[in-house]
Amino acid sequence: MIKACDSATLLSAVPAILTDDALELEADRLLRALLHVDCDPQGRTWNYETCRAIAPLTLEINRLKRERDAVILAHSYVEPEIIYGVADFRGDSYFLSLKAREVRARVIVFAGVVFMAETAKILSPEALVVVPDRGSGCSLADSLTGAQLRELKALYPDATVVCYINCTADVKAESDVCVTSGNVHHIVANLPARRILFVPDRLMGQNVRDELRRRGVDKEIITSDGTCMVHDQFGPADIAAARERFPGLKVVAHPECTAEVAVASDFVGSTGAMMKYVKTTAAPYYLMLTECGLVGRLQVEAPEKAFIGGCRLCPYMKLNSLEKVRDVLRAPRPDQIVTLDEPLRRRAERCIERMFELSPKD
Ligand code: 13P
Ligand code: SF4
Repeated sequence: MIKACDSATLLSAVPAILTDDALELEADRLLRALLHVDCDPQGRTWNYETCRAIAPLTLEINRLKRERDAVILAHSYVEPEIIYGVADFRGDSYFLSLKAREVRARVIVFAGVVFMAETAKILSPEALVVVPDRGSGCSLADSLTGAQLRELKALYPDATVVCYINCTADVKAESDVCVTSGNVHHIVANLPARRILFVPDRLMGQNVRDELRRRGVDKEIITSDGTCMVHDQFGPADIAAARERFPGLKVVAHPECTAEVAVASDFVGSTGAMMKYVKTTAAPYYLMLTECGLVGRLQVEAPEKAFIGGCRLCPYMKLNSLEKVRDVLRAPRPDQIVTLDEPLRRRAERCIERMFELSPKD
């Protein structure tokens, strides 16, 4: 019996004929992008054979994107073959939030972690927002629920509630304004309230406290107790040992690191700002105190730079794969579709829109 189905389903059921020429061209395109990546979490060498092996997948994903009217947003920490093989936009949380709000696609595939996809759904409610793996959580987002934040708010009723974007939609809905690693200092410094309840990152809260004190801004910052399981692992001893071995080294850290790490670093900023810093400074070596995917991006975009240090992986970001991106585009399972209660979505949207209003305009 023939069942009725829509034309997109019909199209994707018919595998496109992939000629050897098409596969070779795609492998060449991938190789040109990925050639310099040598910190691959799966230990792969990015040569022609590796690229030829994934070419059928990237070609199929790019075809499915056109058929489904889909865009792929990818955070810089996901695997390089997603970032350079199939993503339409790649970057940090702020950039990807802007793109999620702007794009007019029917489907948004978020290759990152679930709170980022939730943010996309908050900002583009008409789109079907899907995640390759529902298990892609975040130790910061998982550290605080909306109910726990309500309890904290009851203890500090006069505080303005600022949430770091690495939190659930429930927490955003309970907050006055959202911030990212790129705009946190500017936004907190310019809020009228002196007392700030900053959630869920205790370490970033300490870094904001220190930075605002340096700038002469008087704020009382109260935090909840979350940390990033990747960034809280770096210590000042790593920096001291590296500086001794590599004279002229520049140390570049994310503000989710400890205050001791931040103070011992040459630059602290969002992943987007960290990339910009490396591209625009001259140094013989860089130590990147962040997730390893960012080093992969820099090896692609600034191949002349030298990076030292080991590789720390975010296990959640690494749940994304080309196979899962293809499968979610072919036919998303219910658990891969992001849904939000509409009144909660609207409250969370207000808190993110406030961030866009208060962000530095540059
Ligand atoms: P960025 O917004 O700086 O990319 O940070 C996101 C993140 O999850 C860092 O761990
Ligand atoms: Fe969350 Fe840390 Fe992973 Fe970023 S690196 S997504 S903060 S667990």
